[in-house]
Amino acid sequence: MSAIQRITCSTAVGIALALFAFGCGEQSETPAPAKPAADKPAQPAAKAPAPAAKPDTAPAEGAAVEADPAAGKADYQIFCASCHGPTGDGDGPVAQALDPKPAKHSDGNYMNPLEDEYLFQVIKFGGASVGKSPMMAPVGGSLSDQQIRNVIAFIRSLADPPYRR
Ligand code: HEC
Repeated sequence: MSAIQRITCSTAVGIALALFAFGCGEQSETPAPAKPAADKPAQPAAKAPAPAAKPDTAPAEGAAVEADPAAGKADYQIFCASCHGPTGDGDGPVAQALDPKPAKHSDGNYMNPLEDEYLFQVIKFGGASVGKSPMMAPVGGSLSDQQIRNVIAFIRSLADPPYRR
């Protein structure tokens, strides 16, 4: 290849590249603006009905909005099982001494008609706040609102017949 040929050739390649790049640029610009809308799936927005979610105490999985029954189970064993029993049968070691007895969270016939907001009230502010036994102690000082919602989700999972929203 002579020097002139090389220059001509590389010029041609340069022009071709320039055209190519220009052509590409133009082509790819058109579909690009349409993308952002499809980037984020609509899922998180659709899943955000719980306004009381507290990000500061959210479980690690990023499920800040959804109640997490597994996390609720852990707190239940610590704060509730002594009276309500590990599986919500109302047979915790402290239950014997109590009258009235701790509710059976496994009893779906009793528990399922109770609204989430009512359960939240009982758990956070205690039985006395709804005219129930003060032995049903408030845990609002120990558990965040999100943790209480997790506990409620766990309680719901114990119900037989099963709880359905
Ligand atoms: C010191 C014992 C004790 C502990 C601990 C305890 N409870 Fe209770 N709980 C009771 C008793 C007693 C009742 C029954 C109150 C009544 O029927 O008047 C009750 C009732 C309930 C009820 C039913 C309310 C109703 O309308 O019948 C729910 C729900 C409940 N407890 C949730 C919890 C949760 C969740 C925890 C843990 C965060 C917890 N309790 C911890 C003793 C306890």
